[in-house]
Order: sequence, then C-alpha cells, then structure tokens
Amino acid sequence: MAIGSVALVGAGPGDPELLTVKALRAIKWADVVVYDRLVSDDVLALAPGGAAKINVGKRPGRHPVPQEEINALLVRLARSGRHVVRLKGGDPFIFGRGSEEAAELARAGVPYEIVPGITSAQGCAASARVPLTHRGIATGVRYVTGHCKGDGPLDLDWRSLADPQTTLVVYMGLANVEEIAAKLIAHGLPDETPALAVSQGTTPSERRVCAPLSGLAAAVREAQFEGPVSFIIGRVAGLAADQGRGAYDEIIDELAVVA
Ligand SMILES: C[S@@+](CC[C@H](N)C(=O)[O-])C[C@H]1O[C@@H](n2cnc3c(N)ncnc32)[C@H](O)[C@@H]1O
Repeated sequence: MAIGSVALVGAGPGDPELLTVKALRAIKWADVVVYDRLVSDDVLALAPGGAAKINVGKRPGRHPVPQEEINALLVRLARSGRHVVRLKGGDPFIFGRGSEEAAELARAGVPYEIVPGITSAQGCAASARVPLTHRGIATGVRYVTGHCKGDGPLDLDWRSLADPQTTLVVYMGLANVEEIAAKLIAHGLPDETPALAVSQGTTPSERRVCAPLSGLAAAVREAQFEGPVSFIIGRVAGLAADQGRGAYDEIIDELAVVA
C-alpha cells in the first residue's frame, strides 16, 4: 500500500472564515482528522462526513494525549495509506508543538506539509480592531507564553519585555496574569499601559476586557472568562473598539495627520 501523507494545518482562532483556502482544501480531502481541544466545532464540521475524527485534546479522564502518542499516531495513520489532517488551533508552529510533530514525521520518512493559520494574536487583535504595530506607537510585537513547562515559575526576560515601544501578546497567561502584570511593571512598563484580554476571540462567545496594566488581573478575575484567553499589552491596546469612538484621535493628533 502506498504511503499516505500528513498536513499540519492551522485551524485559526475559531471563526471558520479565517481558514486559509489551502487549509480548507486539505480538510475537505482528509481521510482522517486528528484535532486539538481548541479547534472549533465549526471548523471540524468542514471535514467530509466519511472522515474519521480523532480528538487528541482530551481523554475521557480529561488528560491530554501525550505528545509522543500523537506523533506515533500520525506516523501510523500515514503509513496505512491515509491522508491525514493534523488540525491545530491558530498556527501550528506558534505555541502548538507542531514542530515536534513535523520532526517526527521527517524522521519516519512520512511526506508532510505545513499549512499556516491565523494565530490567536492576529485574530484577537483584529476582532478588537487593535493594530499590533502602529507607526509612532509600537515598532514591533512579541509573542510570549505565560505558562511554563510543568507549571514551573515563569522564566521570561522581563527587562526586555517591559518595552513601551513593543506590543506584547501573551498566550496561555490566564493563570499567571497577576504575576505577569506585576513583573512588567516592576521592570519599568508604566502601570497605566493599556492591556486587553480577549477570551474565545473570533467566536460567537468572544468577550473582551480592557484595563490599565495595574488593574488587568482584577478586571480579568471579575470577568470570569471561560475558554482560551490572550492578552495584548501595550499602547496599541488603548485603541480597542471597546474604548469607543475617537480612540484613534490621540494618535491622529500625535502624528499630525490631516484629514
Ligand atoms: C497552546 S496555545 C496554542 C496557540 C495556537 N497555536 C495559536 O497560534 O493561536 C493556546 C493559547 O492560545 C490562545 N488562544 C487560542 N485560541 C484563542 C482564542 N480563540 N481567543 C483567545 N486566545 C486564544 C490562548 O492564549 C491559549 O491559552
């Protein structure tokens, strides 16, 4: 039997309309879809009715399937001649362990391709109408994880992260939001720096709160978010749609833009 293949496909942050054309084509041709917890039902529904769908995000006992088992499963399925779509939330190569799966497929001699996806940072920012960079406001953007392996202490370069010129997007930071905000302030980021928390971004259940960095943890606690949350921290977060009309006025003044 001819060997099959694996496409490591980014499913985007939730809204199926944010899939790429290439991702949609791969999903529609799949014999098997191996998917994670954060892949939305709307995206999964695009797979053919006859395709097997394997959830590796959670076992009945609520523990995720170990990464080594997922790697081995992908290899086994491809070797059985199937076209496998490995569907991961957001982009498969951003905090998604997609690169570990790719390395295993390469080692096993399984043909594979990477189909990038809209990462949560971009999806959440677009939903809130926040530009991650903006001339004169933010000259760059950094994506960091707010969660450490094995729930260990956060080991981030706080000094470099506390840069008022750079937008910071924190993934997986909900449990540590208090520490993250406190460390950034302690390392020099002004405590009034705008911060935005987006829960279940780009889905019908999306919720957002915006607060100064010093009040972010309290605002998030009060919001009692369910589902994944991303934080956008930096002056651009002050432009969130929630801030109401005129949010851009200050920048327009600052840049002396004439209508
Ligand atoms: C394991 S990481 C996966 C990131 C994914 N590969 C990506 O590119 O977006 C999971 C984290 O992504 C973020 N995330 C995923 N989907 C999200 C959504 N719809 N809204 C807000 N944050 C989301 C959250 O920070 C969550 O804790």
